[in-house]
Amino acid sequence: MKKGINMNKFLWGASTSGFQVEGGYNLGGKGLSTTDVRHVKEGIADTKVASDHYHHFKEDILLMKELGLKAYRFSFCWARIMPDGHHVNQEGLEFYDQIIQLCLENDIEPIPTLYHFEMPQALVDEFGGWKSRKCIDAFVEYAKFCFKEYAGEVRYWITINEPTSMAGQQYVGGTFPPAYKDQFDKCFKAEYNQNLVHARIVNAYKEAGYTGQIGIVHALQTVYPATDSKGDKHAAELKDVLENKFYLDGTLAGKYSKHTLALVKEIIDANGQQMIDIKPEDEKVLLKAAKQLDFVGVNYYFSKFMKEYHGDTEIIHNGTGEKGTDVNRMKGVGEEIHPKDLPATDWDWIIYPQGMYDQLKRVYDDYPLVHSIYITENGMGYKDKFEGEDKIIDDTPRIDYLKQHMEEVAKAIEAGIPVHGYFVWSLQDMFSWTNGYSKRYGLFYVDFKTQKRYAKKSAYWYKKLAETQEIPSID
Ligand code: BG6
Repeated sequence: MKKGINMNKFLWGASTSGFQVEGGYNLGGKGLSTTDVRHVKEGIADTKVASDHYHHFKEDILLMKELGLKAYRFSFCWARIMPDGHHVNQEGLEFYDQIIQLCLENDIEPIPTLYHFEMPQALVDEFGGWKSRKCIDAFVEYAKFCFKEYAGEVRYWITINEPTSMAGQQYVGGTFPPAYKDQFDKCFKAEYNQNLVHARIVNAYKEAGYTGQIGIVHALQTVYPATDSKGDKHAAELKDVLENKFYLDGTLAGKYSKHTLALVKEIIDANGQQMIDIKPEDEKVLLKAAKQLDFVGVNYYFSKFMKEYHGDTEIIHNGTGEKGTDVNRMKGVGEEIHPKDLPATDWDWIIYPQGMYDQLKRVYDDYPLVHSIYITENGMGYKDKFEGEDKIIDDTPRIDYLKQHMEEVAKAIEAGIPVHGYFVWSLQDMFSWTNGYSKRYGLFYVDFKTQKRYAKKSAYWYKKLAETQEIPSID
C-alpha cells in the first residue's frame, strides 16, 4: 500500500452478509429470519435465492483465493444456526463449518459477524426483538455457543454490524420493520440495548479466556457543517451524535459523555419524546467491554454536510438510483445538503474520500482505548453493465472510488493510526437492503438468472494491489 509501512500482516479482504448473499432461505433446517418476512417490493429481488452463496460458497471462496485475498468477512444467520433462537440446528452449523474450513485451507482468515441486521423471527414473536432484555439474553447465549463451537478455528469475531443503521432505519427512516418514523427515543433506546448486548458478549468472550480477537463494526459517516455559521456547526454536532457519537461513546469509551447525552436529549426533546434512561450498572458493563475490545471495524461510504433546520422531519430515501431525489431534514437535528462541487453516486451518497481519513483520525484521537482498526466495508454502489461473456465489465468509477479511499487509509497509517486491514464491500453482487439488485457493489458480477460470476475490472485491480501491496494506478 505504501512503501515503508510493514504490510505483512495487513489483512486484505472482502465482505458479505448472510441474508444478502446466501439464499437457501428454508434449506438445511433454517428458520425464518426477520429479514425473510420483511416485505420487499414485488419484483425487485428474490431474496429467497439471493446470490445463492448457499450453493456457491466454494466457488466464491476460491475466487477470493485467486485474487490473493487474506480474509473473508461474512455473517452467521442466527436463524440458520438456531431456527427458534435457542435450539441448535446441526445442518446450519455444518454449513458455516464448511465455509470456515475452506477459508482456512486456502489461507483466508474467516471473520464471522454474529449479527448483521437479522435475527430469528421466532424471537420477535416470542419477546418482541431488541426491545426486550430476554432477547438480549438469548443473543448472549447464541454468541457463547458460537465461540465454543468454533474455538480454535475463528480468530476474529465481530459482535454486531452497524447498530445505528438498523435502529435508524427501524425507528427514524421507516425503511425497516417495524418501520416507525421520527421515533428518536426508540432509536436511541435500540442503540443503547445493542451497545449493551455487544458489551456483554465481549465480556463473556474474555471471561471464557479465548485467545482470539473480538470487535464491533460501526457505520461511520463523517459529518461537516455546510458553512461556518453557529447554527450549521450545531446541526453537524447533532447529526454526528445521532449517526456516530452515541454508539462510539457506548462501545469505545464505555461511557456516554455529558455532552453526548445533552445532544441526545436536545434531539429527543425537540420531538416531544422522553429521554432514555442511562443506567449506571449498564455503564459498568460497557466500560469493562471497552477496555477489553480488540478492534473496531469502520464501514465508511460517504460524508454528510449539514445546515441548520427547524421544520418538521421529511425523509425521502433514494432507493431507486435516480440521482437528486434524496431529501433528509430532521426536526431537532438539521438538514443534509449536497454541495454542488462534490460528486455523488446515483443513490445520492456523497463521495468524499477525505471523510475516511477524518473519521479514522477522530476515532483514534477521541477514543484512547482504541488500538486496532479495520476498514470492514468500503465500496461503491454502481449500475454495472454486462455486455457479453467475452467483454470485461468496466467499472472504472468504482476503481477510482476504491483507489481514492485507500489513499486516505494509507495517509492514516502514515500518520500513525493503527489500521490493520481493509475489506471491499462486496465480494460479489448481492441484494442491497433498500435498493434491491440494481445497486451493485461486487468485485464479481453476478448474473442473477444463472448465478454465474464474472470478474469485473475492479477485481483485477484489487488482485494487483494484493500482490504488490501498492495501490495500482487506473489503466
Ligand atoms: C452497510 C451494510 O451499511 O452498507 C451492508 O453493512 C450494506 O449490509 C452496505 O449492503 C451498503 O448499503 P446499501 O444500502 O447500499 O446496500
